[in-house]
Amino acid sequence: MTDGQELKEQVREHYGQAARRVALNTVTSCCGGGSCDPISADLYTALETAELPATAVLASLGCGNPTALAELKPGETVLDLGSGGGIDVLLSARRVGPAGKAYGLDMTDDMLALARENQRKAGVANVEFLKGEIEAIPLPDASVDVIISNCVINLSADKAQVLREAFRVLKPGGRFAVSDIVIRGEVPADVRRNMELWVGCIAGALEEGEYRRLLSEAGFTAVDVEPTRIYHAADAREFLVGAGLDPDRVAAEVDGRIMGAFVRATKPVTAA
Ligand SMILES: C[S@@+](CC[C@H](N)C(=O)[O-])C[C@H]1O[C@@H](n2cnc3c(N)ncnc32)[C@H](O)[C@@H]1O
Repeated sequence: MTDGQELKEQVREHYGQAARRVALNTVTSCCGGGSCDPISADLYTALETAELPATAVLASLGCGNPTALAELKPGETVLDLGSGGGIDVLLSARRVGPAGKAYGLDMTDDMLALARENQRKAGVANVEFLKGEIEAIPLPDASVDVIISNCVINLSADKAQVLREAFRVLKPGGRFAVSDIVIRGEVPADVRRNMELWVGCIAGALEEGEYRRLLSEAGFTAVDVEPTRIYHAADAREFLVGAGLDPDRVAAEVDGRIMGAFVRATKPVTAA
């Protein structure tokens, strides 16, 4: 197995377990899901969560609220890369209305089962959950108006390929509008490894300049990276001490450099 395949299996196993915990109603952990997780807590308004099944809210493992930022319009087709329990797909479906469509794409069977059950409970018809990998999106060229995603692209071992696929399936003029973990500036390798373990949902967040470069190379224009939540070593104090790191040193080296960000870009109208 290549390193990329091995990483994918680990990710699948990790999120399969997370889905089973939600389905069995045994979510207990902080930091990696749950209400006291500084990454995923409080991303949605009470108004948004009120209209969703409790298990869709409980399964939320994102780091932003891309649907709120993507300016979705009635009639549009939206694709959520790594849709998990389906929270952003269900919210998008409401925004695009019955004339629009929201697709969720995920590779983990237990997450797909949970998402389809959440769709059934929410009673929305204009939704379809697809099984597949974000590196090989199972949709035709130029078939989607907006790509959203919530804390997933950082998990891919081949981010350039994910961005090329996103570009391919977008219609000319289509929007890429995702929440993701992004690194700003230099973070020492050992500190980065431990911070990544702490945030749980990241295996390899891109540095901001690298993210911009890969988007441009895929063909996107109007690239923008906007911080939505900045993480602090203080939030991870207990974890860092347990991992044998000095929290004060880590704070000095990473504070302000690891963030949840809203990343947007456009497929030019003239693109084939
Ligand atoms: C951090 S969770 C986020 C789920 C959801 N976006 C949310 O906000 O709750 C990551 C999800 O992406 C899926 N995933 C990770 N890598 C993937 C890949 N390469 N292809 C398809 N799905 C992937 C996992 O199965 C998991 O459901």
